[in-house]
Amino acid sequence: EASHSVTRAGAQVLVASNRGPVTYSLGDDGTLDAKRGGGGLVSGLSAIGDDADALWVCSALGEGDREAVRRGVGEPGVRMLDIDAAVHADAYNGVANSVLWFVHHMLYQTPLEPAFGPEFRAQWASYEAYNRAFAEALAESAGPGAAVLVQDYHLALVPGMLRELRADLRIGHFSHTPWAPVDYFRMLPDDIAERLLRGMLGADRLGFLTGRWADAFTACCVAVLGGTSGTRIGVHGLGADADFLRERSRRADVEERLAALREQIGGDGTRKVVVRVDRTELSKNIVRGLHAYRLLLDERPEWRERVVHVAFAYPSRQDLAVYRDYTAEVSRVASAINSAYGTDSWMPVILHVKDDFARSLAAYRLADVALVNPIRDGMNLVAKEVPVVSDEGCALVLSREAGAFEELGDDALVVNPYDVSGTAQALHTALTMPSAERAERTKRLAASATSLPPSQWFLDQLQALTAP
Ligand code: G6P
Repeated sequence: EASHSVTRAGAQVLVASNRGPVTYSLGDDGTLDAKRGGGGLVSGLSAIGDDADALWVCSALGEGDREAVRRGVGEPGVRMLDIDAAVHADAYNGVANSVLWFVHHMLYQTPLEPAFGPEFRAQWASYEAYNRAFAEALAESAGPGAAVLVQDYHLALVPGMLRELRADLRIGHFSHTPWAPVDYFRMLPDDIAERLLRGMLGADRLGFLTGRWADAFTACCVAVLGGTSGTRIGVHGLGADADFLRERSRRADVEERLAALREQIGGDGTRKVVVRVDRTELSKNIVRGLHAYRLLLDERPEWRERVVHVAFAYPSRQDLAVYRDYTAEVSRVASAINSAYGTDSWMPVILHVKDDFARSLAAYRLADVALVNPIRDGMNLVAKEVPVVSDEGCALVLSREAGAFEELGDDALVVNPYDVSGTAQALHTALTMPSAERAERTKRLAASATSLPPSQWFLDQLQALTAP
């Protein structure tokens, strides 16, 4: 275990996010095991180079992380904040993931609509304390005139708080989620809505994944505050990392998973494969996707034995009961399809719930159809990664509510995520698409999907923030 100083005073570029680039697990024998994560921010930040004076401020998320902080173990360039566990739980589970995430994705359903009473007010106090801890750490670690890039709905108050502590900094905030339309956003208590918007407007510049989300944010500011008080707003549509994906998806571990998946699918390579890969997340609309697949088998019996749905639904936010229930529902519906239609030689749905990136890439490679049908999604990188990795071309069934729709809509088969019949029809159209057309579309999808690689996405934001 290497030990590093985890506070880099005088950093010139700082990133702040709830989830950092590394997590620690604590073994029974007391050893700490570090696991590095992937994603757009990780490759984006690496674009500014190792010796740049950069610091990533993030939160300790589990016992392993907390122990690492206590022991002073860390990675260079990462400062992990050990915020009181109860405060973090209220801020992350209570406010960020149960309220803000639900508002921005319009996920509330009767009778689960929120009732903002004393419990919420207490959680909100934790959300403020959590944001303040980040603002203070950033104020402490940032060099004179440094650029600070704050990420996502967990940290919406940080720009305003940081501005008060350090007027010299350039502060940006980026939203990786959709932004709610005015009427839905105003479900929040008025004072909270106001504080959230003012908190974000404390930044010099705000970034969103698509014009649609940026416009919705502006509309909320106009409705609630009368305007955006001069804060600049930009759109940066994060793309897939083509170089990384092409190299990574050809490695031996992916080849192994590919062979195993082919074996599981059966049918000597004659079966068509519909693939989906998601966190088990209500906004991803996995259950309606399964219902659509079931309808396809029901209404078009010619597909029985000839198609397999490979569904990877990885665990997410399991502290929340609605996520646990949803996870159970996904399993239940998948099993029901297998009992109703499966035969000795054919399993209609192959569901995997254990996170495995190499296996996801293997599924991308062999997919004939990718199903990406979120109720709402900031961008959705699966839709962008599949066409890049696909071996022989893949038809994309894509929800018009995914941010990726703005760039990929022309070459995808576009669906309304609530329309199960329409989704079943789109699956049929995708499965019967002539292979030449499929290959052509995949090529164009891959080109659009990779037009803004993570490194450029990050540098563009940094440059826009620090431009005079
Ligand atoms: C979305 C959010 C991210 C978040 C990720 C995973 O993409 O925009 O901020 O990190 O989901 O969710 P989790 O709660 O596990 O961090």
